[in-house]
Amino acid sequence: MPRVSSAFFTVAALCGLAGMVWGSYMGASHDHAMLPAHAHLNLLGWVTLSIMGGFYALPGNQSGVLAWVNFVLSSLGAVLMAVLLPRVLTQQLDGKVMMAAEIPAILGMICFLIGVISNWRKPVA
Ligand code: HEM
Ligand code: HEM
Repeated sequence: MPRVSSAFFTVAALCGLAGMVWGSYMGASHDHAMLPAHAHLNLLGWVTLSIMGGFYALPGNQSGVLAWVNFVLSSLGAVLMAVLLPRVLTQQLDGKVMMAAEIPAILGMICFLIGVISNWRKPVA
């Protein structure tokens, strides 16, 4: 497996673990106020990063600089989403601050899309 896929899966599993502990705490405390933050840590962290890591592990898929840029941006987006969203939900920060998480998440997805589209130029395996 390419190093970049190991990197994606490592951060994905850490997000999944943190998301599950968070979910268990929400369930036990009956306080679901952080539902969107828990959901997006799991969905941008565990789910999205795993899909991307799996893609770069497929035979023939490029795992060069673009894949690493994808990894850094998408991981940053997932982590910042989990760090900033609770402060926005509790009105400690203005909602506009979420751009700091959204921009890397969206740029990471654009890198991924470029990686996927570049496959169309290659012969069918
Ligand atoms: C140990 C594992 C988990 C526990 C204990 C847990 C717990 C919870 C709880 C208590 C809620 C709030 C439910 C509500 O207020 O309606 C919730 C919501 C949510 N969780 Fe988890 N969760 C876990 C894992 C996951 C995973 C792995 C994902 C995604 C891959 C996920 C995605 C979501 C989503 C999307 C919501 C929002 C659902 C909605 O809008 O109704 N959760 N979770
Ligand atoms: C930059 C990335 C994203 C942004 C800015 C974003 C934004 C939002 C917003 C504003 C809501 C409404 C929350 C509320 O009403 O309290 C929401 C809900 C939801 N989003 Fe996202 N989202 C993103 C990525 C994703 C991804 C990648 C997935 C799935 C793989 C996803 C799945 C969901 C689900 C299931 C809900 C309903 C549960 C909840 O309220 O948290 N989102 N999202």
